Amino acid sequence: MTQFSAAQTNPSDGSRTLYGGKGTRRITVRDLALAKERGEKWPMLTAYDAMTASVFDEAGIPVMLVGDSAGNCHLGYETTVPVTLDEMTMLSAAVVRGTRRALIVGDLPFGSYQEGPVQALRSATRLVKEAGVGAVKLEGGERSHRQIELLVESGIPVMAHIGLTPQSVNAMGYRVQGRGEEAAQQLLRDAKAVQDAGAFAVVLELVPAELAAEVTRVLHIPTVGIGAGPECDAQVLVWTDMLGLTGGRVPKFVKQYANLREVMGNAAKAFAEDVVGGTFPLEEHSVH
Ligand code: KIV
Repeated sequence: MTQFSAAQTNPSDGSRTLYGGKGTRRITVRDLALAKERGEKWPMLTAYDAMTASVFDEAGIPVMLVGDSAGNCHLGYETTVPVTLDEMTMLSAAVVRGTRRALIVGDLPFGSYQEGPVQALRSATRLVKEAGVGAVKLEGGERSHRQIELLVESGIPVMAHIGLTPQSVNAMGYRVQGRGEEAAQQLLRDAKAVQDAGAFAVVLELVPAELAAEVTRVLHIPTVGIGAGPECDAQVLVWTDMLGLTGGRVPKFVKQYANLREVMGNAAKAFAEDVVGGTFPLEEHSVH
């Protein structure tokens, strides 16, 4: 039998690949490091509940982020800022319960780590122990390196998030980051700072594609792009954007693969019309 080294992919059945891989054990951060070594790209989606997560898990999505985008996409807040650690713990636990294979990354919400490393450790410990996530994510580059260091030292894998950081919307708005020489140099410093602190991956949100490509070349940890061009090692989308459930305008970087808003709305109207018109339930839906 042909042997494949840890850093190789079995091309005949994709048994070592992240997407389409045949393994049933949970993906780990080590699998992501090996994927970077062999140049394999991978997809990540957000998930906020067990049922949606189980669909993505069955589809082979190897990494799911219980993002604090749950604030605007699931909980009805206007931004991610009001989301609490209790809410993230509850949502993360549901996603873990709904999945078997994907690595689940739980987002640390605004206010749960900014005070310093000890607060970050306390908050991350809740997501790991109570929700069962395999890793946590937090926003910030150089400004968050002490938090990342302590979490990693304590055995908690950390995904960092730089570029546009939505928890800072009140300070930075929703603008492209890293434009211009000075801003680009700062983004590079942020990327290196989180890598040096021990992060296993870094999200690059809304940064010019050329800069994201350079960060991806320079770092040995995977970059996960959202609005950061095609050269990142991985790509993430918010699932309600990707499946057309989010109402209103979606950002330019989103590709919509379905229009669930229309599908669900039409189904709800058909149900209502059946009820009003007396065509549901029928005999086949009734018990005697
Ligand atoms: O909360 C979230 O969904 C995120 C992604 C946009 C990366 O942080």
